[in-house]
Amino acid sequence: MEAPRIFSGSAHPALARRIARSIGVKLGTAKLDRFADGEIEARILENIRGHDVFIVQPTCAPAENLLELLILIDAARRASADRVTAVIPYFGYARQDRKDRPRAPISAKLVANLITQAGADRVLTMDLHAPQIQGFFDIPLDHLYAKPILVRHFTKLRIPNMVVVAPDLGAVKMVRSYAERLGAPLAIIDKRRRSADTSEVMEIIGHVKGHNAVLIDDLISTAGTLKNAAIALRKAGARAVYAGATHPCFSKDTRRNLAAGHFKQVVVTDTIPQARKDLAKSVKVRSVGELIGEAIQRIHEEESLSSLFE
Ligand code: R5P
Repeated sequence: MEAPRIFSGSAHPALARRIARSIGVKLGTAKLDRFADGEIEARILENIRGHDVFIVQPTCAPAENLLELLILIDAARRASADRVTAVIPYFGYARQDRKDRPRAPISAKLVANLITQAGADRVLTMDLHAPQIQGFFDIPLDHLYAKPILVRHFTKLRIPNMVVVAPDLGAVKMVRSYAERLGAPLAIIDKRRRSADTSEVMEIIGHVKGHNAVLIDDLISTAGTLKNAAIALRKAGARAVYAGATHPCFSKDTRRNLAAGHFKQVVVTDTIPQARKDLAKSVKVRSVGELIGEAIQRIHEEESLSSLFE
């Protein structure tokens, strides 16, 4: 059987290289340039006729990353690839996933439509902001979890007297599964959002006094959610506070919020590129490269992915 052909957009070539290396294939060559006026110019520089093609591109900001993914899918389609899989380690534009206020868009559905219309046959993604976004696609979608990576990380730290904490009610189901895997009790924070970027803690449900708290979230943006949670946990008697999240959607306030001494350690994955120099000292990064590589290999060989969830 021919090897899978892996190409990268310009959002995160380092992760695409890690993915390709983990399964022993070379990254395919594609030209990604700009026309003089700034428009994206793309071209796949190898013959992919009849091949199983995987295009790696997190759709984090700027929105050009999404557009570039669509253009690369179109290029692969028109180059007669046998099958095109959009590998989206971080699926952006997912936070508006329902019409919860008048005149709000459902941008997650719009992006799903765009990817499908561009010609993707399948999608491989990780820790969607809401698992039901899977249903926005009418093509097969494989949904990976960073849980095995984060659980392994926290297990190695051997944190005594641990309590695993959901930073808001929406995260409870996911965080409960972390607590089960880590063999620790669960606590829940009742968070209220005042605006898209500001939140406050209303109440902590569960026992945290004297425990070392491990907050788990799908993404960190401003880190306001985690900072407020850490302050509330310390007030309620927690000893140290750790945090783990899959997607580092960091913004200008993140470093300050994570660096203010509220956390013993924060661990994120490399679904979104980060320069080490921009990260607070407490932040550790674990790679999802091998996990995604293994998933690509299995999709290519038509094997089950379910053992990757454990
Ligand atoms: C909320 O539903 C998400 O899971 C995160 O808790 C949130 O988006 C994080 O945002 P920030 O870091 O800006 O508080």
